[in-house]
Amino acid sequence: MTIRDRYDVEALQKIGRIVAKVRDTMGARVRAGVTTAELDETGRELLDKEAARSAPKPAYGFPGTTCISVNDAIAHGIPSSTEVLCEGDLVNIDVSAELDGYWADTGASFAVGQVSERDRRLLAVTRQALEDALGEVASGRPIRHIGRAVSHRAHEHGFAVVRDLCGHGVGRFIHEEPNVPNVHDFRNRERLVDGAVITIEPFLSTSARHFFEDEDGWTLRTVDGSRGAQFEHTMIVTSQGPVIVT
Ligand code: CO
Ligand code: CO
Repeated sequence: MTIRDRYDVEALQKIGRIVAKVRDTMGARVRAGVTTAELDETGRELLDKEAARSAPKPAYGFPGTTCISVNDAIAHGIPSSTEVLCEGDLVNIDVSAELDGYWADTGASFAVGQVSERDRRLLAVTRQALEDALGEVASGRPIRHIGRAVSHRAHEHGFAVVRDLCGHGVGRFIHEEPNVPNVHDFRNRERLVDGAVITIEPFLSTSARHFFEDEDGWTLRTVDGSRGAQFEHTMIVTSQGPVIVT
């Protein structure tokens, strides 16, 4: 969506604050022994309390409230009562929800207890890739510079960008135009429009550039079993840079 007025900004900030709070509350409960279904239940309770609606359910018929993806699962993991987090795992929590017709989307990856040095770096570099990309956001700037910033940071540290997983427009629905790729595509001539609401969400892995869909029909896994990480914010594009709402 493109912001029209102050009301749009406030409504978007409201749902943005809610999904951010859900992300952080769930993240604080990440530890060995917890099931992904228990984490999801925490998210469901919070969204209910705020009278917000989980996005992936009404939008796509997703079987959980939030997407929880562990280790080689890079996105769209289904919360499960049989999936127990173990020391050394990486877990990604992606929260998207709607309130009063406004949609926001955020995500973060977390370490379960002590993780390997390589996985710790994967988290730090993916978070930094998002920061770098935010620095490319302003009205009129090329969208491809976001992907350039993400892939530059990933490659500098020996990590791979999982291609074909993108940021996107958001606001009046969960996935809108434009695509916000994490790679530098020279053919992409699109520029960021003033007032546009977008997400940026770098997906990095220790080696895989591609994923496949699990037999469950939802979970996306890296092709070589390597571990992935993602961090995501929803923001409004302005001439002064991004106004992050999550
Ligand atoms: Co998301
Ligand atoms: Co998203």
